[in-house]
Amino acid sequence: MLNVRDFTEINPIHARPGEPVAAPRTKLGDVELLPETAYQMVHDESILDGNARLNLATFVSTWMDDQANRLYRESFDKNAIDKDEYPQTAAIEQYCWHMLAELWHAPDPANTIGTSTTGSSEACMLGGLALKRRWSQRRRAQGKSVDKPNLVMSTGVQVCWEKFCNYWDVEARQVPISSDHKTLDGSDLEKYVDENTIGVVAIMGVTYTGMYEPVTEIAQALDRIQLATGLDVPIHVDGASGGMIAPFCQPDLIWDFRLPRVASINTSGHKYGLVYPGLGWVVWRDQSLLPEDLIFRVSYLGGDMPTFALNFSRPGAQVLLQYYTFLRLGRPGFTRVQQGSLDVARFLAMSIAQMEQFELWNDGSDIPVFAWMLSDDPARKWSLYDLSDRLRMQGWQVPAYPMPSDLQDLTVQRIVVRNGMSLDLADRFMAEFRAAVAYLDKLAGPLPKPASQPVGFRH
Ligand SMILES: Cc1ncc(COP(=O)(O)O)c(C=O)c1O
Repeated sequence: MLNVRDFTEINPIHARPGEPVAAPRTKLGDVELLPETAYQMVHDESILDGNARLNLATFVSTWMDDQANRLYRESFDKNAIDKDEYPQTAAIEQYCWHMLAELWHAPDPANTIGTSTTGSSEACMLGGLALKRRWSQRRRAQGKSVDKPNLVMSTGVQVCWEKFCNYWDVEARQVPISSDHKTLDGSDLEKYVDENTIGVVAIMGVTYTGMYEPVTEIAQALDRIQLATGLDVPIHVDGASGGMIAPFCQPDLIWDFRLPRVASINTSGHKYGLVYPGLGWVVWRDQSLLPEDLIFRVSYLGGDMPTFALNFSRPGAQVLLQYYTFLRLGRPGFTRVQQGSLDVARFLAMSIAQMEQFELWNDGSDIPVFAWMLSDDPARKWSLYDLSDRLRMQGWQVPAYPMPSDLQDLTVQRIVVRNGMSLDLADRFMAEFRAAVAYLDKLAGPLPKPASQPVGFRH
């Protein structure tokens, strides 16, 4: 149920002679409006949205330069699926995922296969589907049951993996994260992997905290499992964010196709790929890893068009924008932009760590994202949710939320630094952050310690 008034008042601001004085807000009206009036109504309602530059919650790009904006305007009518009508956009899509294959050290980039998607969620679904299909083909060939596939991942996965498992009848085997094991790190993996495991998901940039899961250690644990049991379990790396940070800022970190066990990798073009929403990518290490029977060939738009996607029609402009960022920035430009975000994240993390009210969960040195929690103080009367509200009053969006299952009693707050959050803006944010904390401390005032208050209680 929409909790809004049924009508939008047009009078007295926008009414023009002969126009109705109100327009239905939530159902199709019986009259037409002038384009100017309709525009103004939508514009006015949308100005109530937050200011994207002050949104420290989202990973998704909110800024591109003028040339990108021009390209966007020139191409927002292109449908990516019309590959026959827009063969150059289709070719550019291929250039892009070949570039990613090379960036992620595919042994033979010319022999890889990939696709653009609407975002990492779709890319993860495709990666997961390929894992499932390969597993079931192998099992069927051995005359074994394909009734109970499972996918191993940490409890810190993004919801798209839980969706994948739900939608495609795969058991989600989730390894709990804890204060000792802050990410999936390969320990105890043998308790989760069995003959029905279609793969293991390793995340480069956990959504809750921004931490990298150590893909090398996970691969080594799977090597040991293979030695002991013969099971050969592939890895899909969810590089939604880190896939576009690690190659530039941590080039020596081994997490990608340099590990033979990594079968496929996804990233979000619209996160640290620096493109507007919605664009994602998925690349397989070589063509044999994407079963041919998942690829559809459709001819009714002309030509023979292979597709592996959940959507049919979707915007083609983002693909061109991605190519623009690749050409425009190259390796040095991406390194400079991403390192700039990492520097700002480190500055913010260190500034927050210096405040007695907080403890860092991580320090923003993997991707430019970090989370913190309240330090123990039974006398404190405010929570991170209160702080989030207080910052919201100044326009800053800094979410507070519980950690995933097994740690759900722990509330954290997180900042995502993106291109556009300058050191100067970060400095001003810290001034308002300190003021908000001082306000809450003063407002609540210290309380006498109640005898029953459990020590270590976190709000
Ligand atoms: C690790 C991870 N995987 C997948 C996704 C889903 O990405 P998208 O929003 O591009 O669909 C996200 C989004 O935050 C993410 O952080």
